[in-house]
Order: sequence, then structure tokens, then C-alpha cells
Amino acid sequence: MAVRFSIHKVVLASSLLVFAMGHGGGGCCSDEAEEVLGPSTETQCPPTSTLTYASFGQPFMTSYCTRCHSSTLTGADRMGAPAFHDFDTQIGIQQVADHVDQVAGSGPAATNESMPPDGAKPTLDERKKLAEWIACGAP
Ligand code: HEC
Repeated sequence: MAVRFSIHKVVLASSLLVFAMGHGGGGCCSDEAEEVLGPSTETQCPPTSTLTYASFGQPFMTSYCTRCHSSTLTGADRMGAPAFHDFDTQIGIQQVADHVDQVAGSGPAATNESMPPDGAKPTLDERKKLAEWIACGAP
């Protein structure tokens, strides 16, 4: 009787452990961050590219990104946008250019649409131009 009781306790304890591990792994932040970053679009810089920060990068970021990702915003005003992901300057974009491609670019290998998370979205053509501009070094 006593033996059967303790086996029952072991079974109960291990199923609680499985539940706790599953919950911790599937819940919060690590999984969400993986979902935000998609694959590289594998875009090549065409030698004919004419896109520049002034003609494309700046207006694109102002339209779709800097209401959260800006060095002028702090705390809750960033709406969760991570630190060091500020796109109100050219250098700020260049520093995390690979990640920008992986959340908002479109190219031969992928179309990534996790950013922006809400509001006005770039067109497919704009996402392709973004990936091209980044592939050229975000000049
Ligand atoms: C409404 C606010 C908002 C807007 C607009 C927005 N973002 Fe984000 N961005 C976030 C939040 C919140 C996160 C963190 C998401 C997470 O980690 O789950 C994030 C994360 C990111 C990351 C980091 C991914 C990583 O794990 O390194 C990049 C890069 C990014 N955004 C790029 C952009 C680009 C490019 C645009 C414009 C096309 C944009 N975001 C528009 C809120 C925003």
C-alpha cells in the first residue's frame, strides 16, 4: 500500500515537471523573438541600384518604423521596440541591417513581414527595395 502510494507521487511529480518545462519553453520571450526574425532574403545588390538613404531609406523608415524605433523615444513610447534598434539615423539602420532584412525585407529566399507589427504596412515592392538597399550597404 505504501509502495503504491509513493509510485503515484512520482508519476504526479514528473507530469508536473513536464508541464512546467513545456510552459516555460513555449510561453514568453525567447520563442517570440525567434518568430520576429525570419530568414535572410538572400538579396544581391544589383550594380544598377540607385537607392540611397535620402531617396529611399529615410522616407521608408519614417513611414513605417520610427514611431517605435527612434533614438528620440524612451520607455513606453517605444511600444516595446528593443534598445539599439533605432532607425531615425542611417548608422542606426546599418548597425542592425541584417535584422532589418530579416523582419521587413523581401527577396529571392523570403518575404519577411513581422515588422511593422501594426498600422500601415509597406507594399511588396517597398519590401523588395528595402532588401535591395540593405544588400547594397544602405548607402
Ligand atoms: C508599433 C511599434 C513598432 C513599429 C512601427 C515597428 N516595430 Fe520593430 N519592433 C517592435 C517591437 C515591440 C519589437 C520587439 C518584438 C519582439 O522581440 O517580440 C520590435 C523588434 C524589431 C527588430 C528586432 C528583431 C530582433 O530580434 O533583433 C527589428 C530589426 C525591427 N523591429 C525592425 C523594424 C522595422 C524595419 C520596422 C519598420 C518597417 C519596424 N520594426 C516597425 C515594435 C515596432
